[in-house]
Amino acid sequence: VLTLVAGLGATLLSGCGSEQLISIGDLSSGYNREVAFMSAFAIALSVIIFVGVSYALFYTVNKFREDKHTDAPAQFHGNNRLEIILVVVPVIIVMFLAVLTVRSMAILNPVPAQATKIDVLGRQFWWNFSYPETTADAGGNVANGNEMIMPTKQKVALTITSGDVIHGFWAPNVGGQRAAMPATLKTWNVDTDRAGVYQGNCSQLCGGSHANMRYKVVALDQERYNTFLAAAKAYRAPEPVADSAAARGYAIFMQGKPATGALACAACHRVQGTPAAGAAGPDLSFFGTRRTLGAGMWEAMTPQHWEAPQAAEALHEWIKHSPLVKPGSLMPSYDGSEYLANGKKVKGGVLTDEEIDDVAAYLRTLKLPEEANYWNDTP
Ligand code: CUA
Repeated sequence: VLTLVAGLGATLLSGCGSEQLISIGDLSSGYNREVAFMSAFAIALSVIIFVGVSYALFYTVNKFREDKHTDAPAQFHGNNRLEIILVVVPVIIVMFLAVLTVRSMAILNPVPAQATKIDVLGRQFWWNFSYPETTADAGGNVANGNEMIMPTKQKVALTITSGDVIHGFWAPNVGGQRAAMPATLKTWNVDTDRAGVYQGNCSQLCGGSHANMRYKVVALDQERYNTFLAAAKAYRAPEPVADSAAARGYAIFMQGKPATGALACAACHRVQGTPAAGAAGPDLSFFGTRRTLGAGMWEAMTPQHWEAPQAAEALHEWIKHSPLVKPGSLMPSYDGSEYLANGKKVKGGVLTDEEIDDVAAYLRTLKLPEEANYWNDTP
């Protein structure tokens, strides 16, 4: 009841503007409404039973108080009627709850044929969201790291897995949670009636940066979602202008800097419409449109915030030595220091501060067209 009240309060208070408060009581989601309905029944039943049992207890204690009775109460052995009642009543209660549960499962579990499908991959310590039914014109499926875009007012069918240890997909405002298990595909449906931005977290202790394994769920009304998906399908990363910082960054991104041992970003990251097709790190195709960095370690909730010097600094620090910023990050350090990758000490290559800024400049150009920017005016 408390969570429901808190959830309702959060829903009302957060009204418009930025992100919705994280809540399991967000009744914009059909899943949460179903859970709330079942909880209400279970709680009501529990209250009735609690009151009944408490009454019987105090009645008995009071009635057979020692100062009232010098004689022992009536002694008897076995009472068939009472014992049958004691078995039958709980069985009826449990069966009633079971029927309710099965009813909810029958509502929540089926996936309509036309449901939007999203593949969710959890890894230490980031998420990838890809759209298995949307092949990009440039090849591969449309995908995005750490920001999941979904349509409102319909079930979204997730297929959840992990690339290493067990993680937990948990974005309670859009419904429930599901473990992300290595070598296992778990299905899970989420939904919300309300367009907006919602917080997602990893809900399974998974290593040093478990707490830094966050993501955003951006729910868009159908029309805007279609615009996003169509633009994402047609998207090809823009070619950097010759001789610009972005062009120098592009060269490092694709080839690294062999002279100093700096690995190519493309070895681990994919950028749609370029030769970069790595799958060991999050998809960076729309990096310039994203407002989060390092799986929620840094986030800009307004475009202005993204232009601020702190954003540039955060990105610079991230590229320079992400294992220092984020314990357990498997991204190489480009400051020449040793870093720990899967328990082994690995020496990162070296990029100068200017070269790091060049890579950042390139990343900032990776933008969806403005009309498909899923953050724009997100309620
Ligand atoms: Cu992934 Cu905790």
